[in-house]
Amino acid sequence: MAEAFKDLDPQTMPRSPGITYQQLLDQDSHEVPEVLRLESPKDMGVVEYPVSRYTSKEWHDKEVEHLWKKVWQMACREEQIPLPGDHMRYDIAGMSFIVVRTDAGDIKAYPNACLHRGRMLKEFDGNATELRCPFHGFCWNLDGSLHDIPADWDFPQIDKDNFNLPEIPVATWAGFVFINPDQNCAPFAEHVKDIAPQFERWSLENLYISSHTAKVMPCNWKIAQEAFCEAYHVNGTHPQILRSLGDVNSQIDIWENCARVVTPGVTHSPLLEYEVSNEDMLRAMMDLEHDADTPPIPEGMRPREFMANISRENLRPMAGDRVDLYCDAEILDSIDYTLFPNFHPWGAFNGICYRFRPNGDDHRTAIMECIMLSPFEGERPEPAKVRWLEEDEKWSSALGYLGKVFDQDAFNMPKVQAGLESTYQTGVVLSAYQESKVRWLHHKLSEWVGE
Ligand code: FES
Ligand SMILES: [Fe+2]
Repeated sequence: MAEAFKDLDPQTMPRSPGITYQQLLDQDSHEVPEVLRLESPKDMGVVEYPVSRYTSKEWHDKEVEHLWKKVWQMACREEQIPLPGDHMRYDIAGMSFIVVRTDAGDIKAYPNACLHRGRMLKEFDGNATELRCPFHGFCWNLDGSLHDIPADWDFPQIDKDNFNLPEIPVATWAGFVFINPDQNCAPFAEHVKDIAPQFERWSLENLYISSHTAKVMPCNWKIAQEAFCEAYHVNGTHPQILRSLGDVNSQIDIWENCARVVTPGVTHSPLLEYEVSNEDMLRAMMDLEHDADTPPIPEGMRPREFMANISRENLRPMAGDRVDLYCDAEILDSIDYTLFPNFHPWGAFNGICYRFRPNGDDHRTAIMECIMLSPFEGERPEPAKVRWLEEDEKWSSALGYLGKVFDQDAFNMPKVQAGLESTYQTGVVLSAYQESKVRWLHHKLSEWVGE
């Protein structure tokens, strides 16, 4: 467990020149919540993790057996199945499950398989009063109890009182529904014990899905995921945002079952060898041309406070006056959490969530999703339907500025896969601190899957 790793002392550990994240927080114009003051740097060592984790079918098969069939995983949002009979299909690594809202209002999940000859029960998300198999018509109630067997006289072997759909464990947290394919799994509370208290202030359950974008990516799911687990790649992959991002000043915190990378915005990268003016920082932040006019920053006001004020006013119509309680950091910074193994809700109020999965049973392609959660006033809006991008469609066609950044990340992904298929190295090299969330993910994988 990550606890086995030694705590580093934030005061004395090796780190990038430039302002630390905690020093930036000292300058915040609002009260900074405790959660951002947490620091949990770990000495994760400098071991290499095998290239075969990305390239071998044998490793993938072990992941399916020991990880995907055993671990708690985010299946959908509660808001996607609000009414009795609402159901969603959740597929993982060649397996399929149905998540259903019952008449009693609770949520149950079943393997997506008929107990007669095994046909998938539900291919599509939707609403149904019962779960009837389209093949021969065996039918179950929403709560999994048997409802009907056509010509039941012909099944003398079936005890109708004990022919229920097998339930698998379900839990909810922060508006998300989690399932675990393992009927003997560890309690969900243990799974979220590190992350749940940290998100209390941000109440993701009170947000709604304002957009949901998915795409099949041409790489192993971990290559896609790890592209979003460190800010060290920003100088190579996203040089245009260095003027407004403290990439190598990110703070990385490792707990047992979750980790985070906090990357400050509206501060410039220490890797730039020239002075960045406040105007230039604003242009980078606002995605403006190099010589575009910028709004004037009032005398004596820090650019972070200035930008946070603008964002607060943009948020106010949706979020109300509670925006006055949000500190600058909660508005400006990338607070990228990962809950093992594949779920990435951002902290604070920008509502970004990523999920990465193997694409069916193929270890060389992955499903990447970006769910945007937004605040609302009054009645809860309908959650956005998932938009699947075609192979040649760019993330920017769905997600604007954020999508442009994703497109740069996505450009690397098949090349990383191709490089790892060709390398003579046996392991991937990772930095000690900046890539320590990637180290943590692989360390956890070793625990679950083996070496
Ligand atoms: S396989 Fe489902 S009713 Fe026959
Ligand atoms: Fe990136």
